[in-house]
Amino acid sequence: MIIAANFKTNLTRYQTREYFSALENFIHDNGICQEVLVFPSATSLYLHNGKAIMGVQNAYPAVNGAYTGEIGTEQLDEFAIKTILIGHSERRHVLGETQEFIAQKFEFYKNLGYKIVYCIGEPLHVRESGEVKMLDYLNAQLVGIDTKYKDLVIAYEPVWAIGTGLTPTLAEIETLHTILSLTCKTPILYGGSVKAENAKEILALNNVDGILVGSGALKVNDFCSMISDAEKLNK
Ligand code: 13P
Repeated sequence: MIIAANFKTNLTRYQTREYFSALENFIHDNGICQEVLVFPSATSLYLHNGKAIMGVQNAYPAVNGAYTGEIGTEQLDEFAIKTILIGHSERRHVLGETQEFIAQKFEFYKNLGYKIVYCIGEPLHVRESGEVKMLDYLNAQLVGIDTKYKDLVIAYEPVWAIGTGLTPTLAEIETLHTILSLTCKTPILYGGSVKAENAKEILALNNVDGILVGSGALKVNDFCSMISDAEKLNK
């Protein structure tokens, strides 16, 4: 399975180094076979050598150039980063990225062979408008995305479950993942208020191939406990 941590705008460079060091010790000492991905903030990236894979939360679709405040692949290459999050709800809803721009970013990083963790998810009012409208909304977030890309991972993260402590029911998660798996033959992670306390039951669901964890992963011991849960399930 794929167990991923998105630090968002949390942890310093020093704290991130300490985190990776503890994480690598844990993976080594426990013979972990799961795929572990960690997305620190851009200022905390470094050339990491280990089993956990360091990815970037965002980057501009350019090698370099005049894109004030952004980073491109010239900066990512310095740290051998080849994994990126694209389409996260905070980039869509807080930072205003359009589907068109997200698809352009996807195409750029796909052409460079990056592993792409591509996020989709519906806001609460869409979920409340019924299953048909909800699926239409999620499908619209796949427009322009090559769902057959070999290094694609989908993360289903309902917007209303992110950082709120709320989650869909286990049955709802399983149903939605099963529907998505009919069209996307690629690993599908669940994200949104996953914590050490609920990770195991979510990971155990059919068609859940891993988790993408925000605040619940900020303490390395909690993240390691979720990795242990995945390892024990041995899916
Ligand atoms: P939380 O785990 O804090 O709800 O965030 C989920 C998320 O957005 C991961 O990308």
